[in-house]
Amino acid sequence: MAAVPDFPARCVIWFGHPHAAERAALAAAGWQVRGVASNECVAIGMRSNDLIVGLLDLRGDAPGNLDHLQALLDQHRHMRLLAILPGGARAPDAQLQALLACCVETYTAPLEVAQLVQHLLRLADGEQAQPSGAQSLVGDSAVLQVARAALRKFAPVELPVLITGETGTGKELAAQALHALSPRHARPFLAVNCGAIPAALVQSELFGHERGAFTGAATRRLGLFETASGGTVFLDEIGDLPLDAQTNLLRVLQEGTIERVGSNHPQSVDVRVVAATHVDLEQAVERGQFRRDLFYRLNVLRLPMPPLRDRGSDIVLLAEHFLASFRNRHVTRARGFTSEARQALLGFNWPGNVRELLNRVQRAAIVSEAELIGVAELELLPPQVEMPQRLLHDARQAAEREALLRALRQNAFNITACARTMQVSRVTVYRLCRKHQLALPELR
Ligand SMILES: Nc1ncnc2c1ncn2[C@@H]1O[C@H](COP(=O)(O)OP(=O)(O)O)[C@@H](O)[C@H]1O
Ligand SMILES: [Mg+2]
Repeated sequence: MAAVPDFPARCVIWFGHPHAAERAALAAAGWQVRGVASNECVAIGMRSNDLIVGLLDLRGDAPGNLDHLQALLDQHRHMRLLAILPGGARAPDAQLQALLACCVETYTAPLEVAQLVQHLLRLADGEQAQPSGAQSLVGDSAVLQVARAALRKFAPVELPVLITGETGTGKELAAQALHALSPRHARPFLAVNCGAIPAALVQSELFGHERGAFTGAATRRLGLFETASGGTVFLDEIGDLPLDAQTNLLRVLQEGTIERVGSNHPQSVDVRVVAATHVDLEQAVERGQFRRDLFYRLNVLRLPMPPLRDRGSDIVLLAEHFLASFRNRHVTRARGFTSEARQALLGFNWPGNVRELLNRVQRAAIVSEAELIGVAELELLPPQVEMPQRLLHDARQAAEREALLRALRQNAFNITACARTMQVSRVTVYRLCRKHQLALPELR
């Protein structure tokens, strides 16, 4: 009998009421669905290998009771959350949007269940590619070894860490690894994207608010820093943090206290701050968009994540890693890459870095009909064998100038005759002369 691999359980906790067809589609894709009335807060136990995704189905009740929703979200922050909003023309209000900033996807009714299944699939693949700890960063290149060593060194130190790097280089993964290797690993790791929350709500999201602090604040609410107590707060895109929130963050770092919006009693908080940015914070400081003192506080331990294009053969290693993890979960014929595809992977510029590589490999594994994935499935151009673009351009320009001069000389610098020889219009001849800086009166 063939051994049955021990797959982690995959379960969607559906807060609300899934339609029968939705249940069936998820079951067919290998997901258990557990419906929970959305007004009931449940404690959901997780074994370490389980993959549990929460789905907030807001189609039924117009989300009038935001406090309740807040409580629900707060209680389930440890799982990946998705949300379905009611359809209709009305755009969701800013407060609801802010609440849902912690959701990895939001859909608007009517729900396209195929899209949901696809996203769940991607989540599952992402999860699988993400064991925590420094070993979760795949790669042997010198630059990655440096990053991994820094990560190990920084993990046990109780100081903020600033992770820099282009999008998709693994900043969030590195932050998770830092947390997993730190003495805080058993406490929460809470991530927030500073750019995704409307500016007016950032303070309350991070630091909480008192009852009645502003219209709509019907009850007291804990912010991220209090919820993460004892753990790590990951502030992604820290460069987008509004200035007033920067001031309060500085207070967290200097004094270890926060004040909820609407309160003037400082509360102590025990969190480690890990921040990430893809913009140059020094420049933001120069432009007056980022507080210099906050920058210095954050910049003590700096972890630069190298762009994928600088990681050499790690690119192929990562591609193989992503393909292997895909094969663990899905049926695909693909089991490797053609040598042309490997070359193309190495030669590509990777503007979206590791995230882009992951997406291309998954896509290729789905569409590939053959055992070896080729350049076409990866949607990459075959490796460049011709001249580099720059040289090619220069050579073309030189040839064009030569041809023009020859035609002009042949026709004693008569423009009409030259145009006839070159089979272009007179206007074009004049334009080319200007472009190649040929002064006709002088030449004549
Ligand atoms: N070195 C790596 N090894 C394995 N997976 C990686 C690595 N770096 C990034 N990833 C994966 O690539 C994707 C993007 O990484 P992420 O940390 O979100 O990047 P960033 O926050 O810099 O935009 C995630 O799915 C992540 O798990
Ligand atoms: Mg990120």
